[in-house]
Order: sequence, then structure tokens, then C-alpha cells
Amino acid sequence: MDTKQLITAAINALEYSYAPYSNFKVAAALLTKDGRIFTGCNIENASFTPTNCAERTAFFKAISEGIYDFEAIAIVGGKDGVLNDYCSPCGVCRQVMMEFCNPDTFQILMAKSSEEYKQFTLKELLPEGFGPGNMGKEKNR
Ligand code: THU
Repeated sequence: MDTKQLITAAINALEYSYAPYSNFKVAAALLTKDGRIFTGCNIENASFTPTNCAERTAFFKAISEGIYDFEAIAIVGGKDGVLNDYCSPCGVCRQVMMEFCNPDTFQILMAKSSEEYKQFTLKELLPEGFGPGNMGKEKNR
């Protein structure tokens, strides 16, 4: 995996963040097992609840094109798009990852720059997660 390329893709997607209410801009770059990258940004709403996180935007773009095999996701975010801190994926996004990724192998990169990042497996961020296996599904499609 080219971590620098993946994080750079996430940083470049920050410009599309639609966050007029929080001004907290987030972007993600999702790497498929065949080497493609799907980017996503947060998309807020005046009614708040319909807001979609950057990570889920990236996943839903890929899933909606029939892609189900994922290797890693890079996440960047901060107030006004300034990357002062690591942006951790919210619980809902971790649960969506659990639906489509192997928790033992899927990698989550939280980055402040293309060189400064922390890396975890999904299992580390969502231990004892509930997924398709708990519903008797071996495969999620
Ligand atoms: N946000 C994300 O896009 N991803 C996360 O994992 C954390 C939160 C967005 C949602 C909202 O637009 C803003 O950050 C503040 O919560």
C-alpha cells in the first residue's frame, strides 16, 4: 500500500467538504483491494441528522459501483480543514466498516499530513464488533 498516495488523496478531497454548520472539514480515501481509490467528504445538512460522514461517503460511492473488497482508508479532518489533530472515525462509520471489511486486516489511517499518521486495524478500533457473521452471513453480498 502506498500510504503517502492514499493520504494525499484524502487531503485533496478536503476541498469538497460541505460543512457550513460545524466548519469541521473531513475527507477520506478508501483503497480497494484492486488498487482503486474512492474519496469522500462530510456532507452536512441544515436539519443536522441527514449529515453524512466522509468515511461513509467513500464507502457508499464504492458499494454503489459494485466494489466490495477494501484494504484501507485514510482519514483527515479538522476545524476549517486545518489538520492540527488526528481525526478519529465515529462509531457509526466504524460499524459501516464492520459490514464490509475484515476487522483483522482492514487498515485505518488517521493522518495529519502524508508523513504523519497513526494506523490501526478495524478490530483495534471496534473490538468485539457486531457484523454480518453474527447474522449468519459469511459474505456481505
Ligand atoms: N465527521 C466525519 O465526517 N467523520 C467522522 O468520523 C467524524 C465526524 C463529520 C461529521 C460532521 O460534518 C463534522 O465532522 C462534525 O461532527
